[in-house]
Amino acid sequence: MTKIGIFFGGRSEEHEVSLMSAASVLRVIDRSKFRLILIGITRQGKWLLYDGPTEYIADGRWEALAQRALSEHPETYEIIMGSDSPLSLGKRIDFALPLLHGPYGEDGTLQGLFESMNIPYAGCGVLSSAVAMDKIVARDIFHRAGLTQPGYLRTNREEISRDSEALMQKIEREIGYPAFVKPANMGSSVGLSKVKDRRELAQALMSALRYDRRIIVEQGIFCREVEIAVLGNYEAQLSAVGEIISANEEFYDYDSKYNAGDKTKLCIPAELSQEQEARLRAMAKAAYEAIDGTGFARVDFLIDKCDGTVYINEINTIPGFTEYSMFPRLWMQSGLSYPQLIERIVELGYARYNAENRRQAGDE
Ligand SMILES: Nc1ncnc2c1ncn2[C@@H]1O[C@H](COP(=O)(O)OP(=O)(O)O)[C@@H](O)[C@H]1O
Ligand SMILES: [Mg+2]
Repeated sequence: MTKIGIFFGGRSEEHEVSLMSAASVLRVIDRSKFRLILIGITRQGKWLLYDGPTEYIADGRWEALAQRALSEHPETYEIIMGSDSPLSLGKRIDFALPLLHGPYGEDGTLQGLFESMNIPYAGCGVLSSAVAMDKIVARDIFHRAGLTQPGYLRTNREEISRDSEALMQKIEREIGYPAFVKPANMGSSVGLSKVKDRRELAQALMSALRYDRRIIVEQGIFCREVEIAVLGNYEAQLSAVGEIISANEEFYDYDSKYNAGDKTKLCIPAELSQEQEARLRAMAKAAYEAIDGTGFARVDFLIDKCDGTVYINEINTIPGFTEYSMFPRLWMQSGLSYPQLIERIVELGYARYNAENRRQAGDE
C-alpha cells in the first residue's frame, strides 16, 4: 500500500488554516488505498511524527501528544533528513501530500526538499509554487501573459525607510484610493489592508512590513470575487466557477475566511454571463500555464461591479482544503467527490514525477 506522508501545520501565519485542511483530508481519505503517515510541523518549525486521533489536529492538541511520543521514543519519532538513514523521511513515505499554506509550505521551499530527497509529491513544483506565492513576481508574469489585472506598484522596507513621503505621493499618483497594501509573500489576508487615505496608507505599509520586506500596492477594485479550481499537469482541467459573498463587505479578510460561520457564502455555480464565464475560463487556463502549474491550484478573480471587467487576482497553489472550502466544493459540483479528488491529486503527482525521471534518464 502506498505510504502517503501528510504534512500539516508549519511555520507560517497560516498554521491553523493548515490544521483545518489536514483534519478534513484525514476524515475523508480512503484508508483502504493509502497508509497514512502524519508529519506535523510546529510553529517553531519542529517536525514531529503524529499517530494520535484526527480530532486532536484542528485544535492543536496533536502537538503535545507528538512531543511526548518523541521524548519517549526518540529513535522512532525523530525525522532525519539525510537520505540513507533508516529513520529518514524518504524511507518512511512513498509520496508527500503537503497541506501547508503560506511561506515554508506553499512557496516552493518544502517542494525543494522533496525534490532533493527524491520523494514524489502533490501539487505544483518549486518554481510555480514560488512564483504563485510571491504577489509581485506573479503580477509580473500575469502581465507578460497579457492577463488583465489591477494596477500595481512594488516597494520594500528600504524604500519606505528612505523616504516614505515620496513613496506615498507616488502611490497616490499612480494607484490612488482605495488601494490594497499586501506583503508580497503571505496568504489568508494576513498583513493585508484596504486603505482610503494617507493615514491608513502609512499604517498599512507598516503592518505589511511585519510579514515581508517586499510589499505590493494595488488599485482597489469594487468587485465580486469568483474562483476556479484547476487540476492537471501543465494542461488545465477546469471546474465550475464559484463566487464568494464575504461576511465583511469591505474585502475578504481573515475572519470572513475562517471565523464567519455561514455569514460568508459560497455560491456555486456563480451567476455569470456566458461571455464572462468564457473569459474567466480562458484566463484561468492561461494563468496556470504561465506559472507552469502542475497538480492543482485555485485561480481567483475580481469582477468589477460597475463595468464587468474581469481581473486576475491570484493563484493559490495549496488552496484551503476543508470540506467547506471552495476548492473541493468546486470539484464536487463538477462531479468529483472529495476522496476522488485526493486520489486524482496523488495520481497527478506520480505522473509528473515519472515524466521528470524519464526525461532525466534521456528517454524523451
Ligand atoms: N486589488 C484589489 N481590489 C479589490 N479587492 C482586493 C484587491 N486585492 C485584494 N482584494 C481583497 O482582499 C482579499 C485578499 O487579497 P489576496 O490578494 O487574495 O490575498 P491573500 O493571498 O491573503 O488571499 C481578496 O480576496 C479581496 O477580497
Ligand atoms: Mg486570496
